Amino acid sequence: MARKVMVIGGGGREHALVRQLAASPRKPEIYAAPGNPGTATLACNLDVDPMDLDAVLAACRRHGIDLAIIGPEDPLIAGLADHLRNAGIDVFGPGHLGARLEGDKEFAKEVMATAGIPTPRYHAFSTVDAALRHLDTVKPPVVVKACGAAQGKGVAVCDSLVEAEAHIRLCLEDHGFGDAGARILVEECLFGPELSILVVTDGQDYALLAPSRDHKRVGDGDAGPNTGGMGAYAPVPMDSDLCHAVDTEIVAPLLAELVRRDIPFRGVLYAGIMLTRDGPKVLEFNCRFGDPETQVVLPLMQGDFLTLVEATAAGNLTDFLQGLPDAEAGGPDGWPGRGMTDWNRSAVVVVGAAKGYPGKYDKHHPLAVPADDAEAWIVHAGTTMQDGKLVTSGGRVLGAVGEGSDLAAARAQAYALLDRVACDHLFHRRDIALGAERTSA
Ligand SMILES: Nc1ncnc2c1ncn2[C@@H]1O[C@H](COP(=O)(O)OP(=O)(O)O)[C@@H](O)[C@H]1O
Ligand SMILES: [Mg+2]
Repeated sequence: MARKVMVIGGGGREHALVRQLAASPRKPEIYAAPGNPGTATLACNLDVDPMDLDAVLAACRRHGIDLAIIGPEDPLIAGLADHLRNAGIDVFGPGHLGARLEGDKEFAKEVMATAGIPTPRYHAFSTVDAALRHLDTVKPPVVVKACGAAQGKGVAVCDSLVEAEAHIRLCLEDHGFGDAGARILVEECLFGPELSILVVTDGQDYALLAPSRDHKRVGDGDAGPNTGGMGAYAPVPMDSDLCHAVDTEIVAPLLAELVRRDIPFRGVLYAGIMLTRDGPKVLEFNCRFGDPETQVVLPLMQGDFLTLVEATAAGNLTDFLQGLPDAEAGGPDGWPGRGMTDWNRSAVVVVGAAKGYPGKYDKHHPLAVPADDAEAWIVHAGTTMQDGKLVTSGGRVLGAVGEGSDLAAARAQAYALLDRVACDHLFHRRDIALGAERTSA
């Protein structure tokens, strides 16, 4: 009988997850909760709110589903994985203890300090007075972060102390992020290119998916405010020293520290890293697949994704990894990927966003997307069906993914496809993955 699997969430990442599952030769029966018009073509969408833990469980029971992948951080932080596991469902995604690495940045700093993982220096505050007294002792630029999960809006990289004070007041005085901003970090500002490392782990064994890079700023040349991500590419060229440092200074010590603290973790641990002159340093951990990184990392995966998900959720990741080819042909020495990545392929995603994003934007603009082909396809993010017609419904509306034998080819595929999207209300960056081969990690 076909394996039944539920993907929880409804953004671009979840469409990419559904797509990868649908490519499995094992032909699983796929459900998405709530999904989007993109997942609807490959899965059965269920009208369920991921934050309603009982409703998700009831939907699993109703459809006989015993395997779930949780996409977004909020339900993970709220303990959805524990809720489903307690009912006998295998889950890809950590319980609330593991999800705290993302949901509480001060906790993540404390774990990193014990494990000796390099990360920017910081101080934590819960009152404006104490934070401002500290601000008197530092020079800009400085980074102010809400400790909790704030939909990617809780962090301000401040060029002046005036800006830093404003963000401190927004968090602690105006409660701009609710409880998520009730405690803040004031952090040393680092410089360098960023790198997203996605580690698949069952808490014992682990392997890394392809290294990727997200473009967070809204405008070309990294101008303007931060967004949820305007595009991404993989693999990022890596040298063997960096592979070694990521593995031995960051990933292995973190997983060992989780074991030491008895924190189980079955899913993806995502390290957001800055490559500084003093080596790689961790800016944050996430407890799930990145969006939009997933859109470019999964197409490069070797091995069956359904079997990977199943093995990780059941705590048998080693069995899955032993079935893969030993090495990653064409990949850098020392990359702890265990055969999961095809380094002879590249992928690029370019996001089409609603005009005005990440500020105010309109919704419900009509949209027509071109059909997929083998090397280029559309991933839906903020789209919905209205009176039988596809319309925009979010800030990041869709992603055009291109795949090819190198980044330039993948990039050309992605942009050619995006040009064929018909919508008068979208904009996109024109420099995603541009010159990426030269700006090696
Ligand atoms: N210490 C730092 N120095 C320089 N830039 C930073 C620093 N911390 C965060 N940033 C920038 O802000 C972005 C968001 O910060 P991050 O810690 O990843 O929080 P979140 O993803 O929860 O918003 C990072 O991707 C990076 O571009
Ligand atoms: Mg981040």
